[in-house]
Order: sequence, then C-alpha cells, then structure tokens
Amino acid sequence: MTTLLTNICELVTNDAALGDGSPLGTLRDAALVIEDGGVAWVGPAAGAPAADERVDLGGRAVVPGFVDSHTHLVFAGERSAEFAARMAGERYTGGGIATTVAATRAASDEELRALARARADAMTASGTTTFEAKSGYGLTTVDEARILRISREFTDETTFLGAHAVPAEFADDRSGYLDLVTGGMLAACAPLARWIDVFCDEDAFDEDEARAVLTAGIAAGLMPRLHGNQLGFGPGARLAVELGAASVDHCTYLTDADVAALAGSTTVATLLPTADFGTRSPYPDARRLIDAGVAVALATDCNPGTSYVTSMPFVIALAVRETGMTPAEALHAATAAGARALRRGDIGRLSTGARADLVALDAPTYVHLAYRPGSSLVHQVWRAGVPA
Ligand code: NIG
Ligand code: FE
Repeated sequence: MTTLLTNICELVTNDAALGDGSPLGTLRDAALVIEDGGVAWVGPAAGAPAADERVDLGGRAVVPGFVDSHTHLVFAGERSAEFAARMAGERYTGGGIATTVAATRAASDEELRALARARADAMTASGTTTFEAKSGYGLTTVDEARILRISREFTDETTFLGAHAVPAEFADDRSGYLDLVTGGMLAACAPLARWIDVFCDEDAFDEDEARAVLTAGIAAGLMPRLHGNQLGFGPGARLAVELGAASVDHCTYLTDADVAALAGSTTVATLLPTADFGTRSPYPDARRLIDAGVAVALATDCNPGTSYVTSMPFVIALAVRETGMTPAEALHAATAAGARALRRGDIGRLSTGARADLVALDAPTYVHLAYRPGSSLVHQVWRAGVPA
C-alpha cells in the first residue's frame, strides 16, 4: 500500500542535499510517497510516481513532525497559584516539586494514565509525533517505576529522573536519598527507561551529586541527559560535555567557556523558552549558541511547575521572538535537532528511509508557525504513515 501526498506548496525535508540547499532542504510544488510507515520518495509533484492512494494537500506546507525531546508527561495536580505568585514578582525555586510529588503519589494508575493521555493527545494535535517523558514526581522506588511504566504506554523515549528533588522523608538524609537513586531505585527503573537525567542547578543537585547519578545510570545501561543552567550559572553544561550527554536542557545561563565546550562536543543545547516564560526568567540566547556552532534544539518541558505547555508551535514562536532564532532555525531545532537530542536518525527529517512522521499546515509556508502565534495551523498529522 503506497500513499502519495501531493500539491504540497512547500515541503521541508531537513535534508540539505535536497531542494534549496539550506539546512531545511525545502522543496517547492512537491510530493511525498509513504510506504510501510516510511518515506519512500520525495520530489517535485510533476515527477511523482503512481501510488495506491492520492491525497491532494491543496497547496499546504508540510514539515517533519515535531520532536519534543523534554517533557514530564506523567503527573497529577496543578500549580496555577505558584504561577500567579511568580507573575506578581515571586521567584521560582524547585520547592514546588514537592506539591506535585504529593499529588502524583496520591493518584491511581488510571488517573495518571488519563492525565497523560490528555497531554499526549494535545501534543499530537499540535503536530508532535515523538516525545520524551521523564519520571521525577514519584521519588520512591515504587512511584518512579510506576510513572515510567505508564510513560512507556505512550513513548519509547522514557527517562529516569529520580534525582529531580530530595523528597521530604529524606530531608535530613540527602546522601541516603542519593544512595537510593543510584542503587535500588535505579535498579528498578533502568529496565523501564532509555535515559538517565538529573536536575543539576542551584537549590537542586550539585556537580558531584549529578556526576554520581549520571555515572550510575550509565553503568546501568542508560544514556545521560540533564537539566542544567536554568536557575543560574553552574556546572550542568560542562558536566554534560564531560559525560558525553546527548543534551543539556534549559541553558538559560551560560558562560563563554560553557558555550565553547558545547561547540566542541556532541551534546545538544536544548532550550525550553516556555519554562523561562512561566518563571519570568531571562530567555536563553540561541543566537550566541548557533553562531558558536552549537547544535540547538527546542522542547516544551511540559510540567506543572514551570511550563504547562504541550504546543511546539508556541515554543517555536516564542523562540523566534525572544531567543534570536530565525523561523528556519527554530523549525530545525524543533524537528531535526530534537531528533539529535534523542540520538535518533529515523525521525526529524522527511527524506527517503525516514519514518513518515509529518504535519500538513493550514499555511503556505512553515514561517506561519512563528508569524501567526496562537493560531492552530495543524491541518493533519501522520505518525509512521498513519493519520493521527
Ligand atoms: O524542567 N527544573 C526542573 N524541573 C522542571 C520543573 C519542576 C517543577 O517545578 O515541577 C523543569 O523546569
Ligand atoms: Fe524539565
């Protein structure tokens, strides 16, 4: 069974060898053939091969499905009062994590599953075709494993974040909690996760603690990524490079040495501008990173504390307006670089051999994603070639 999508005004492939030669590899008046869930052909509509089924996209733009490489999908409760207090001048600290931990522990599996499903559906409706999901609101062995088990019903990209905060019952025994996270909790969670993460920042885990958590995760077969440089200058970015992490996420506060270290590495800098929005923080400087040669991704950080956001188009618009990215750079960051932050070669692009994850926009060009913030521009989403 083959499906021809045709009459595409602008097709973004993210393959620089195709189309206009830019990193987006944009083709005009294009078509694309889906076969067995993958992309079998892309090229000019006039030269398209015959197919079993033909879909006329009416001059719409088509882009790769968004890759949201950083979400906290599974949690219960909400913290709008904290948000309102911040908008009245209060400063964000990680202290509110405890509120969400209490609500999440108290929720049943069915409740957590329903909440996660609603968020996953909202992500898909706004064009996301792959998302990562972290634990981190359980902070007991049973609850962290439970969150990962539920996360795996929605995505293969699951991340163990037992080192999100020290829970209240370990308030006087920080090292005891770290022993648990790197010991029994890790042993229970590693089979349920692909990644290990740690919140390495002011008021969170310090450099030595973060290194111990990530090193233990690596020894258990997980790949490292981390939260860093969100609340202030700190060791996160350098530690990410030292350990060969796939990504360091937030990057709101970076020194020149951090930027240089990232530029000479395989670590992606993932910016989460909606978390800076939700905490009224300064925005990260994407321009400085890109000009230095750092690979930059964008993600939502969907969570109840800093960024209750599921929409990658909103992240793109905010990144263009506030972090110095062009619309082309922001789209690349939300697709190809997101895939790179998950070390995936099969997604984030629309060239032959890729998974057929794509979004048709109610717009003639992807530029409208940033040009018309707040409008729902998603016409149709395909995941692995199937309408979502
Ligand atoms: O990515 N920074 C750490 N974790 C989350 C927020 C956690 C919370 O406040 O619930 C983040 O911003
Ligand atoms: Fe986060």
